[in-house]
Formats: sequence, C-alpha cells, structure tokens
Amino acid sequence: MKIVNAKDVPTDIVREPGAKQVVIRRVIDTPDGADRFLMSIFELAPNGATPPHHHEWEHEIYVLSGSLRVELPAENRAYALRKGDVVFIPRGEPHGLATGPDERAELLLVAPAERPPTRSVFLSDEPYEFDERLTEAAARDNGSDADVTAGWPSQETVRLHRLMFGYLSSKALFSAVELGLFDALEERPGTATEVGERLGLPDRSARMLLTALHGERLVDRDERGVFRNAPVASRHLVSTAPEYLGDLAAHQDSHFGRFAHLTKALRDNAPIRVDGDRDHPAFGGPVRFAQVTRAASLMMAGGLAEHTSLKGHSHLVDLGCGSCAYSIALARANPDLRVTAVDRPAVCDMARENVERAGLSDRITVVPGDIFTDTFPDGDVVLLSNVVEGFDPQRAQDLIGHVHGWLPRGGEIVVHAHMWEHAETPFPYQIGLILVVNNTMGGEPYGAEVTRSWLEQAGFRPQPTVATSPISAVARAVKE
Ligand SMILES: C[S@@+](CC[C@H](N)C(=O)[O-])C[C@H]1O[C@@H](n2cnc3c(N)ncnc32)[C@H](O)[C@@H]1O
Repeated sequence: MKIVNAKDVPTDIVREPGAKQVVIRRVIDTPDGADRFLMSIFELAPNGATPPHHHEWEHEIYVLSGSLRVELPAENRAYALRKGDVVFIPRGEPHGLATGPDERAELLLVAPAERPPTRSVFLSDEPYEFDERLTEAAARDNGSDADVTAGWPSQETVRLHRLMFGYLSSKALFSAVELGLFDALEERPGTATEVGERLGLPDRSARMLLTALHGERLVDRDERGVFRNAPVASRHLVSTAPEYLGDLAAHQDSHFGRFAHLTKALRDNAPIRVDGDRDHPAFGGPVRFAQVTRAASLMMAGGLAEHTSLKGHSHLVDLGCGSCAYSIALARANPDLRVTAVDRPAVCDMARENVERAGLSDRITVVPGDIFTDTFPDGDVVLLSNVVEGFDPQRAQDLIGHVHGWLPRGGEIVVHAHMWEHAETPFPYQIGLILVVNNTMGGEPYGAEVTRSWLEQAGFRPQPTVATSPISAVARAVKE
C-alpha cells in the first residue's frame, strides 16, 4: 500500500507540444504497482494549457480548485469548468484543458495506464512553455490554504455575497425563459448580437443577459463569442423539451414583484397584491397552476413512487390531485392500482388530459369534488400531496380528520409535503415565505413532527417519515 500526501509528490513540468504553464504530480503511478489505473494531479497557472491531444483511453477528471475550460477541438467547442465539476472524456475524443489570464486550476485525473503501442496523438506543433516564476506566483495564491489567501475574503463572506446576489441569478433565468432565449439558442447558437436580433433585444442587453447566464453555466460561450445552450438548458429550459421546467420559472417570476414587499407581508401577516398580477401568464387560474405543479412534480414524483410502496392497496384516492403527476407516477409504479383523482372542477379537464396522454385513463378516474366534504369509502389509501401546507393549521387538521372519518379501517394516509427536517436544499425552509406573500388561506410548511402529531391526534398510527426527494418527504399512517 502507498499512502502519501499529494503535496509531498514532486511536480514535473508537462513538456508536451502545446502545453503551457502546467505541472503534473503523478500521485499514483506504475512504479507504485498500479498497472491499470493511474492518478495524477495537474496544476495550471494563469494562461495555462494541457497539450491538445487524443488517445485510445479515457480520462476522468475532477476539478479540485479554481476554474478553467475543457476544449474540444474537433467540435470547436469549449466548456467552462469550476471546482467540483467532473468530466469524462471518452476514448478517442480530442481534448485540452486551459486557463484564462485570471484563472488557475488544480485537477485530479484518473486514466488507464498508457500501453504502447497506443500513444497520445498531439494536435499542436507548438513547443511547451513554462516559466517557473509564473507558476510559483500562482502556487502562492492558490496553495493548499487557498481559503486564507492574503487579501481574499473568507468563505463565509463569499457565501453571503452569493446569497445577496442570488436574485440576479433567478431573474436572469426568468427573463431568459420569458424572452424565449433558450428556445432561440436551441434552434441555432449565435453571438450576442445575432441572438439579440432574433429576440428583438438591443446588443448590450443581449450581451449582458447571455453573460449572466454564462456565469450560471446555463449557456456556454466559445472563444469566438458564440453562445449555445448548456446541456441542462437544452433538457429543461427549451419549451418543447419533455422535462421542461420553464412553467415553474414563470411562476416564480410571478412571485418576484411581490417579494419586493416581503417585509410588509411579514409585518401584516397578509398576502401582497401587486399591479399586473392578473395579467401575468402564471396567474391564469387553477389550470395554469396545475401546469406549474406538474413542472414542480418533476423534482418529486419519481422519488415518491420509488419510496412509497403501495403493495397491498388496490384503490388510491389522490386528494387535490392538481396535474395528476403523482397519480400517474404511482399508477405506473403499481400496475394493479386503481386511482380516483379529485380536484376542483376547473382543474379536472387538464388533469384528465394528462392522464390520457400517459395512457392511464382505464386506471385513473379524475373526479371534480371538494376534498373537505366528499368521501371515498371504497378507497384504501389516500394521498395528500402538497395539499396540507396550503391551509391554516386548523383547516389542515380538519382535512386529516375528515379523511380519517371516511377511510375504512386498515386504510392508509400518505402525506407528501416539503418537510424541512428532511430537506437537502433550503427550499423546504423557505416555502413558507411564498405562502406568506401569496396564500390567502394561512398555509405554512408544517414539517414532519407536526404532521405526525396531527395524524396521531386524528386516530392514525403514524410510521417514521421518509425523504422521497431532495425537497420533500412522506408521512404515512394507518387507520386502526
Ligand atoms: C399545491 S396543489 C397540489 C397538487 C398536487 N397534489 C401536487 O402535489 O402537485 C393543491 C391542489 O389542491 C386543490 N384543492 C385545494 N382545495 C381543494 C378543495 N377544497 N377541493 C378540491 N381540491 C382542492 C387545488 O386545486 C390544487 O390543485
């Protein structure tokens, strides 16, 4: 076995064609007995580059610190990378890594041992460049104690700065969705000027918006200044994509104006109305809201279905079904399950269309109703997904009590909600602010403990709550 601190492994200058200001530490190498996988650490100073090349083996890269770009000369593309990013470069793919004048980077590279006669094919004729003074200066600034580098702010300052400017990230995304920017880039990449012309934006505006999105890695920019959608944008922000999340962005954008008055809403404990509310597409009534919840369900429905076994149940009643995204996910995961999905009449047509599109009309019946008064005694399991938090504590308890009243003995209630005790993102802690600013019914996120106590008080026997997504959890309980 070999145990060594990476900083104790000497650096070698990379002397291959096209290499610039880059050193390598061969932390695990063939002399160590590694004859299949090697591990190296590369350190690139400002204006550094690994040699552009290709070979018949793959690279696995993890960015340990700093920022840089990976260049794919065959495609004439480059992707920005930063600390924590992971890159897989398949066999045969020409590649190089490079830093800009203000960048430096340290990365871990894992690759199979090079086996002659297969060798690297270098794509540059330029001799390597290396000026030790530049690398030493970079190392001083970017040493292992980088967090306390003289003159740099502390990590907590950086975190607070990120928080304070977070609204810029949100709003850039919202405006880009509203302007159809991701659709335009999907159709054709372009420079800021070209994209601006297509969207009807002045040159400067297009440049600023695209640059902001580039900073959030939602678009990529190559060295010619051509912008294109990053993979995440192609997948989720192009309006024709099956996993489109733009409806959710538009809905959050509709909250944006109100949030300027959050302090007032908190003082008054009352929702905020702002001019133009009614004109915004996200306020198109319950149907529009159901589209939004469908987009939101992309975060949660898969995990709910995966981690909520309904074995032994035959008839699910989904109360406040919205888009039916959860009915559909649970029906798919439980092939023998029949579902009655209940919501306000205005939502039902849209829910039914989703069920039809999913090919599940024979198993999911959408019925208009009032979940506070209607009963479904032939159901044996009830889902309340993101419903309870929409009401004040008394109404929420009344709803659980009402379900307990009509559910047959042995039946089960499944409460799916944003429970902060299980949160992997700040959102379940924050959603209460959205409710303060918008919700007229006094709703709030109740968390796992309170939900459990209400289930108990209603006469259910609760089971431990379980996280089913990074932002939601499930409380289950049986009526004895
Ligand atoms: C936040 S949405 C949740 C939708 C869906 N369960 C989900 O998780 O995406 C709450 C839903 O409850 C419905 N709802 C609220 N009060 C209702 C009532 N009294 N009767 C029927 N549906 C109601 C709303 O129309 C809305 O679709």
